Amino acid sequence: MAANRKLLMLPGDGIGPEVMGEVRNVIDWLAAKRTVAFDVSEGLVGGSAIDKHGVPLTDNTMADAMGVDAVLLGAVGGPKWDSLPFAQKPERGLLRLRKEMELFANLRPALVFDALVEASTLKPEIVKGLDIMIIRELTGGMYFGTPRGVETLPNGERKGVNTHVYTTSEIQRVARVAFDLARKRGNKVCSAEKANVMEAGVLWREEVQKIRDQEYKDVELSHMYADNMAMQLVRNPRQFDVIVTDNLFGDMLSDEAAMLTGSLGMLPSASLGAPDKQGHRKALYEPVHGSAPDIAGKGLANPLATLLSFAMMLRYSFDQDAEASMVEKACTNVLDAGYRTADIMQPGKKKVSTQEMGEAVRKELAKLVG
Ligand code: IPM
Ligand code: MG
Repeated sequence: MAANRKLLMLPGDGIGPEVMGEVRNVIDWLAAKRTVAFDVSEGLVGGSAIDKHGVPLTDNTMADAMGVDAVLLGAVGGPKWDSLPFAQKPERGLLRLRKEMELFANLRPALVFDALVEASTLKPEIVKGLDIMIIRELTGGMYFGTPRGVETLPNGERKGVNTHVYTTSEIQRVARVAFDLARKRGNKVCSAEKANVMEAGVLWREEVQKIRDQEYKDVELSHMYADNMAMQLVRNPRQFDVIVTDNLFGDMLSDEAAMLTGSLGMLPSASLGAPDKQGHRKALYEPVHGSAPDIAGKGLANPLATLLSFAMMLRYSFDQDAEASMVEKACTNVLDAGYRTADIMQPGKKKVSTQEMGEAVRKELAKLVG
């Protein structure tokens, strides 16, 4: 058996613990059946951490996250904590993890499973076979730029300020992630900004182009204004292979791309830092969906996005491509077999709970292992 990999699980709030429970079951299953074993520790993040410790992420949990090979997070937030001051909200726990672990590259694949073509709000002929990878810059731009805040002016008016800011190195490192990934896929990158109205957008465009011309001549690069991309994503999404964009545009465009696939409940993500001397990247994996407090604790949540995030973890943090593909195949097979959680339910299919979906995936895994 290979040396154990250290994994920190942060289930978080709402449906987080339920969907994470299904990953835990798969981990136990893998440990029992295969040669993949993890040293799993658990911690609190978001509202659950606020309830216990008064902060959305304790220094101890932050230190734990820095010490493991990978972090798997469920979801954070909920109405219970909505009235808290901005700096104490559950979301700050997630943002602190991203910032302190320096997870600058957020990979958000938008993949349409054949079995779910009909679940998309777009026509099947537009989305069938869709396979996009969005690379969202995650530690800069509007989310972290300073100055920021709300101040009262001498005339009594209030002024809110956020700053969109990027340096060349911040743009270059995320561009490289996009080009590297493109080489393993369709070899095409489209970069989105608003160079028509923002100086930082002009810089973004120039720097991405420079990296392409200097280091990735074999990769096809195009540029698009972010508003146009929002439109193109619903008009003809299959024109895209890899998309690279900043933090705020990436937040919005990835939600839009996610909906092309029919449900946010299907979409995984990986957030990666720079490789260290041994080539290991700090990494956090999480489903793109939120904490869905309205359905929490009812067994209605779709665990597939979190299971697929776990598959990304196997691939990107542990070079376990075979196991990653196996988990992905098991998810595809349960969909082909007609299993559906409520979010992706279609007439004539088998409606299942979170737990039943997890169990169906494990049965498929068992078949795949033989
Ligand atoms: C996301 C979420 C987060 C973000 C929230 C929860 C802070 O929307 O991961 O896309 O805005 O980045
Ligand atoms: Mg978002």
